[in-house]
Amino acid sequence: MSRESSRAAVAALLAMAAELDDSALLGVYQPTGPVFASARGSRLIAEDGRQYLDFTAGIGVNALGYGDDGVAEAFAVGVAAGLLHISNLYRTRPAAVLASELVRLSFADKVFFCNSGAEANEGAFKFARKWARQAGGPAKHEIVALRNSFHGRLFGSLAATDRPAYQEPFQPLMPGVRFVAIGDEAGAREAISAERTAAIIAEPVQGEGGIHPLPAEFAQLLRKLADEAGALLIFDEIQCGLGRTGRLFAYEGLGVIPDLLTLAKPLAGGLPMGAVLLTERVAGAMKPGDHGTTFGGGPLTARVALEVLGRVSAPEFLAEVRWKADRMARALEALLARPSVKAVRGLGLMWGLELHTEAGPVVADALEQGLLILSAGANVIRLLPPLSIEPADLDQGLTILAEVLP
Ligand SMILES: Cc1ncc(COP(=O)(O)O)c(C=O)c1O
Repeated sequence: MSRESSRAAVAALLAMAAELDDSALLGVYQPTGPVFASARGSRLIAEDGRQYLDFTAGIGVNALGYGDDGVAEAFAVGVAAGLLHISNLYRTRPAAVLASELVRLSFADKVFFCNSGAEANEGAFKFARKWARQAGGPAKHEIVALRNSFHGRLFGSLAATDRPAYQEPFQPLMPGVRFVAIGDEAGAREAISAERTAAIIAEPVQGEGGIHPLPAEFAQLLRKLADEAGALLIFDEIQCGLGRTGRLFAYEGLGVIPDLLTLAKPLAGGLPMGAVLLTERVAGAMKPGDHGTTFGGGPLTARVALEVLGRVSAPEFLAEVRWKADRMARALEALLARPSVKAVRGLGLMWGLELHTEAGPVVADALEQGLLILSAGANVIRLLPPLSIEPADLDQGLTILAEVLP
């Protein structure tokens, strides 16, 4: 097929005239409602022309909203260079510079790039295990995770995800994971051992689990117990990192420095990218050939990520996030007066409203009124607007939410 006719064929396939048939998609999601065709700022536009305000940001991905000029330009420059992909066997500039920037802005000395959040956590587990094996032999391989956690859907990350229903059909998963409840000091002391534990993993703010910020004292206890047991501390900032809490990294608000940190969602502005940040002492355990991935740190993705990182790390951008966060906190805390609202939790632009009732009908009503919101579990409404949201859009979304909340 010539380029011309292939272009025409694709255009015909994507033509919006026909009813969308998504029956060939594996039914692991149940998407309903409008068919989205384009977007700008914090607004999505459906095929029928109706606009929707977005308080989901692609579940924490679209930190700079939609149609961002800087992201579009970085993408266009990357495409124009023609080098969309090249193997990691060869050197390119964007990945090296992105890694240096992440190192400069964080506790880390080294960075490994991959393609998703689950992959980043799998990588972190492998790095931790290799390091721990050298420190304490093969028995020192366990991972201690927190109750209510979510770390991904692959065999290692799923093993550390506290969702029996997600795990059960796929057993056996990676062995050697113990769970501890947030705040359970005795349980943590029992689970973390010098002989067995390679690493502890925690989300500084649990996202999928219903927006639970990790108390700073408990984070500090985990750091202390990790040090005493000669184990590593991994922070999963896949949902809460890169500006979401009003700081570039959520750990900055806890007074705790991890040994490894995982990132993904917003990192490359909507292109798939994950990263593991690690200290020199952990990195020293990894040798050429110990880990790898075909696409990780590709030149186009890394170039776009450099634009995102530059923007979300700017002090004035983070100050604006904190300003909007205060506004959002005040509006949501006022909703505590509603009989349906049991609790309001969160920080930055990451909030959960725990309801006495099911969250699903509220999500559906909000969509009906032109606002996209998320649930997290059966009873929690989760709000993750783009970090770049205009204050007027933030206010409008909060008004719609107040209207649809029972
Ligand atoms: C905290 C956290 N870790 C890991 C993941 C998995 O990321 P991905 O879906 O990119 O594999 C998610 C996804 O929601 C997450 O929120």
